[in-house]
Amino acid sequence: MHQAPILITGASQRIGLHCAERLLEDGFPVIVTYRRERDSIERLRTLGAHTLKADFSDEAGITGFIGALREQTDSLRAIVHNASEWRPDAPGQEAEAFRQLFQVHMLAPYLINLHCADLLRHGGPADIVHIGDDVTRKGSKKHIAYAASKAGLDNLTLSFAASLAPAIKVNGIAPALIQFNPDDDEEYRRKALAKSALGIEPGAEVIYQSLRYLLDNPYVTGTTLTVNGGRHLI
Ligand SMILES: NC(=O)c1ccc[n+]([C@@H]2O[C@H](COP(=O)([O-])OP(=O)(O)OC[C@H]3O[C@@H](n4cnc5c(N)ncnc54)[C@H](OP(=O)(O)O)[C@@H]3O)[C@@H](O)[C@H]2O)c1
Repeated sequence: MHQAPILITGASQRIGLHCAERLLEDGFPVIVTYRRERDSIERLRTLGAHTLKADFSDEAGITGFIGALREQTDSLRAIVHNASEWRPDAPGQEAEAFRQLFQVHMLAPYLINLHCADLLRHGGPADIVHIGDDVTRKGSKKHIAYAASKAGLDNLTLSFAASLAPAIKVNGIAPALIQFNPDDDEEYRRKALAKSALGIEPGAEVIYQSLRYLLDNPYVTGTTLTVNGGRHLI
């Protein structure tokens, strides 16, 4: 029987890549988006993923992707909005950075949800998952635009959950530190680890576990699942 695929945006590295690999391992067909060709994308192809090149930096990139997606499939099991840029508020580039973060974290999920909801309406289980950020709980001193755009994504979770129920569940995942970047120094790592009660760098599997919880549970919608190691307790 034809099984509807799960779409994951920005899956060429780290959390998105891990979730794509684990879904494939667990027998789900997967479609991923990527911006640059690289070994990880070729590896996903050999594992059976469909890959679509997409850049959400402008509206044309988003609508072009929606067209390509609709040529690729006539149904989806889920959409996982993972693509993201973690960009600071750089002096002199504030407006450009704000627009870019708005494009990736809000406009792309907004347009993709509006124009692909029909692909999720096949009568079976269907989900949209927004990967947000725990930073929206209290804002950020150095990533103000990033935090604001992720807070906007949280709000999309509520509106789409209400408007697409009962056919489609819509939830968010709000991670805090999951995985360091290779160039994070010892001092940064020490400080970051001290910010949570559990004090570990858990790795991407905790996001896969959260994603599976949201996909597998039929009674959860309009919720954002905090995955922050108890950061709110410190
Ligand atoms: N890692 C953490 O500790 C952490 C903590 C809190 C929240 N999160 C959230 O979890 C998610 C995954 O995190 P991550 O660390 O794995 O992210 P990441 O390493 O920064 O990867 C994000 C992906 O998004 C894609 N992307 C960026 N801008 C794009 C654009 N304009 N159009 C299309 N794709 C674009 C990139 O594609 P290319 O590589 O092809 O350029 C990249 O593969 C993100 O939503 C992030 O905000 C992560």
